[in-house]
Amino acid sequence: MDLGSPEQDPEMKEESSSVYVGREDDIKKSERMTAVVHDREVVIFYHKGEYHAMDIRCYHSGGPLHLGEIEDFDGRPCIVCPWHKFKITLATGEGLYQSINPKDPSAKPKWCSKGIKQRIHTVTVDNGNIYVTLSNEPVKYDSDFYATGNFKVIKTPS
Ligand code: FES
Repeated sequence: MDLGSPEQDPEMKEESSSVYVGREDDIKKSERMTAVVHDREVVIFYHKGEYHAMDIRCYHSGGPLHLGEIEDFDGRPCIVCPWHKFKITLATGEGLYQSINPKDPSAKPKWCSKGIKQRIHTVTVDNGNIYVTLSNEPVKYDSDFYATGNFKVIKTPS
């Protein structure tokens, strides 16, 4: 039985294509850059030899992640949002928090994950050029709220 290929929404097809965002030499110096990829603002980090791209506005309240510091929590590199200090893993977009067992106040606080909150995009490097491909995971992430609709910083011309 031939199921054929699913019809693809032309807009989705467009959004799934990679977009050139800059030169490798430049991001290696600055360790971060911002870009608009198919009308979506993203930040690209270069941290310890790896590239990471995510929505630029924090999932919590839209804070500017490109102005945050990178720190390790529980051995996981995170961007710390400059507004309310939420921690977001660079690799997966998970929100991390510390929890304490109230039944055992002597126990050390543990780092836990709230799950994926920030949408992560794919970075590829070809011949010194950096490209970003938007995630098309068919799931709503909290950061989508600040990247689309009324909250979107860059407005699409109507
Ligand atoms: Fe980022 Fe609140 S807006 S922590």
